[in-house]
Amino acid sequence: MDKIRIIGGTRLEGTIPISGAKNAALPLMIASLLTDGTLTLDNLPHLADVAMLQRILGHHGVDYMISGRRAGQDEMCGQTVSMTARAIVDTTAPYEFVSQMRAGFWVIGPLVARMGEARVSLPGGCAIGTRPVDLFLMGLEKLGAEIEIDGGYVIARAPRGLAGARVTFPKVSVGATHTVMMAATLAKGETIIENAAREPEVVDLAECLVKMGARIEGAGTSTIVVTGVPHLGGAHHRVLPDRIETGTYAMAVAATGGTVFLENARAELLSAALDVLRGAGVTVEELDGGIRVSRNGTPLLPVEVETQPFPGFPTDLQAQLMALVTMAKGTSHITETIFENRFMHVQELARLGARIFLDGQTATVEGVEKLKGAPVMATDLRASVSLVIAGLVAEGETTISRVYHLDRGFERLEEKLCRCGADVSRIKG
Ligand code: EPZ
Repeated sequence: MDKIRIIGGTRLEGTIPISGAKNAALPLMIASLLTDGTLTLDNLPHLADVAMLQRILGHHGVDYMISGRRAGQDEMCGQTVSMTARAIVDTTAPYEFVSQMRAGFWVIGPLVARMGEARVSLPGGCAIGTRPVDLFLMGLEKLGAEIEIDGGYVIARAPRGLAGARVTFPKVSVGATHTVMMAATLAKGETIIENAAREPEVVDLAECLVKMGARIEGAGTSTIVVTGVPHLGGAHHRVLPDRIETGTYAMAVAATGGTVFLENARAELLSAALDVLRGAGVTVEELDGGIRVSRNGTPLLPVEVETQPFPGFPTDLQAQLMALVTMAKGTSHITETIFENRFMHVQELARLGARIFLDGQTATVEGVEKLKGAPVMATDLRASVSLVIAGLVAEGETTISRVYHLDRGFERLEEKLCRCGADVSRIKG
């Protein structure tokens, strides 16, 4: 298995292009199941999760065509992919797929909406928490699907089609919002989704579905209204920039010092995180075409942060922020409210010399003068990249094993960092 080797201590200076968002790309790709028309997505990132979902969708009958790179096009730009599900050839999503990527479960919405049936494996365990699917099942049941669990599979049936209904989520869920919104596009009548997730990726999916002919209002607010239509058609859509990748590199620059322009980044997608960085003494400027982040000589200040659904501080940036404030001048408190077990990075950061104390869902981080390189292990996607940030500042060499976690969600990470002067390399293994 590959490892990443980092020699820390270099300031980051330069430009990092921000890729298309993984967490928008996945539901957008799944939306191709809703139509026999062709859905073309631009700016699709080159990621292991995207490739995995491509395999899953292929199993259901989606033809996948990747456009070649045009002469003169920047090699860092995303792919253009056309997906056509002329016929759904299989309505079962097997365990070997869904267990590897939770978002694979989301196919249940489009499949039951279009085909009147879906048999989708329960996802199983996850490193960051239990992550149940009760909200998905509740939502689909409200739309008239009959749900049965058998042999580790959820079987959803709606032989006469789905019917619009009021779906009130007791808790905000991004995946359940995506799934019910997709299913409702083909249901008869009006669906009102209350306490919907307001994440930018939900808005991106809704915008794409509207281009496909869906009638959706209110995406980006807590109440989404979907009026079902008999068919959806093809569309052309560009995946929005990745706010988590943006925040990650912003924190990397904040940690190492230096100035980096995050090209294509959109500040409104991560205002809460940028405000936290400003509060920590980092300069963040919103410019045309991107965001400039710099810290040149000013000390890092401690933070008090609680993760929240959008527009709050994202759980997907919690580990990276923790890596950053390990070197703050003072004590920070970071509370994780979304997932109950998302602190796997704490022990690994401690191996580099960080002083972090966990009490329930709150981490107290006492800033230290410096971190020292060591071998560490990646445990999940965002935890892994927090180790990269720590490794970039730590004295000496840090090696990170199990980097396949990183490849799931960060496109060309080593290359992007090296372009800004970092000493990061991949050891093939
Ligand atoms: C999405 O996961 C993201 N994944 C996650 O990013 C992100 O951390 C999460 O949203 C929160 O922002 C993708 O978009 C592919 P949720 P999702 O349903 O949709 C509970 C990353 O690193 N819940 O919003 O699975 C759940 O356990 C990943 O890129 C239920 O209780 O998250 C959690 O506590 C990791 N019942 C909370 O809701 C349900 O039926 C929010 O989870 C569903 C969820």
